[in-house]
Amino acid sequence: MKIVITGGAGFIGSHLALRYLQQGDQVLILDNMSTGKRVVKGAEFAQIDILDQVSLDRAMKAYQPDIVCHLAATLGVKRVIEQPLMTWETNVIGTLNVMNSAREIGVKKILNVSTSSIYGDNDRNPKLESFAPNSDEVYSISKTSAEAYCRSLFEELGLPVVTVRPFNVYGPFQDATPYGFVICIFIRNLLEGKPLTIFGDGTQIRDFMFVDDCVNGMMKVVNSGVDGEAYNLSGQRPIQILDLAHKLQEMIPPTKCREIDFAPKRPKDIYRRWGSSKKMEGLGWSPKISLDSGLVKTIEYFKQQSDRRPG
Ligand code: UD1
Repeated sequence: MKIVITGGAGFIGSHLALRYLQQGDQVLILDNMSTGKRVVKGAEFAQIDILDQVSLDRAMKAYQPDIVCHLAATLGVKRVIEQPLMTWETNVIGTLNVMNSAREIGVKKILNVSTSSIYGDNDRNPKLESFAPNSDEVYSISKTSAEAYCRSLFEELGLPVVTVRPFNVYGPFQDATPYGFVICIFIRNLLEGKPLTIFGDGTQIRDFMFVDDCVNGMMKVVNSGVDGEAYNLSGQRPIQILDLAHKLQEMIPPTKCREIDFAPKRPKDIYRRWGSSKKMEGLGWSPKISLDSGLVKTIEYFKQQSDRRPG
């Protein structure tokens, strides 16, 4: 089959591209390379911004994909706060452009990748797909709107689009930047002998999922998900951030620095979030990789990266 992956050079998109290639499918990656940087071998690639409808249409028409996986987005806790307009444009208008393009060529299935942060900051856990979106934060508002448009395009025009809401995904090729992603920030700091910073008191909870589980879940939803529906992709491994910090300190051979600094809670930081994967279990999917083994694989990747760096 022919698969288009928007945002296919990004962290999750590049893993998804690789898996489709490994199972014998053809892949075209569309990415504007603003944050993506990994075009996997064997995939075709076009540097296209999803806000450029003309180029997007042209690429889709020429390729004639069976499936479109839409991952391109503006993300990163800090970036979206700094750039709310761009976040809206890419995540809402860009999504509409992708849906439009896919509709014009009559694809069989579209995967819209949303986020678990649409559930907002409340203590109702585990999150079920039936919970109403409830967030007042820039990124989640844009993703909630994109989801709503997708659902309406399904209901009004029969567009075969299905949505996933990943919880916190981690693994090799994720970027440790000031823009977030706690696991790779902690691993990188520990490998470099730098202190860890915890925003707040560390009792906040996240539900981490290794990227391979996430990608398998996405492919399962493409194959068996019901059009118009949304599915959580949750690792089922909720952990407090302070416990995560201690776990990683134990897993990474001792460096000179074992400090944990406590900084003020980030604005709009969600306190505790974990998901139910009951709906996905109904499709025959559950996460397979334990937090410990996922962390080992991720640490190994970051070690290789730091060994390659000069000095
Ligand atoms: C993450 C994703 C987001 C996604 C959401 C749902 C980012 C960077 N991450 O947000 O795209 O929509 O999950 O899957 O956008 N923390 C520290 N110290 C650090 C870094 C983080 O204490 O050095 C804390 C944060 O305050 C937060 C937790 O760790 O409480 C997780 O942070 P992060 O990895 O940035 O993810 P989310 O905020 O959950």
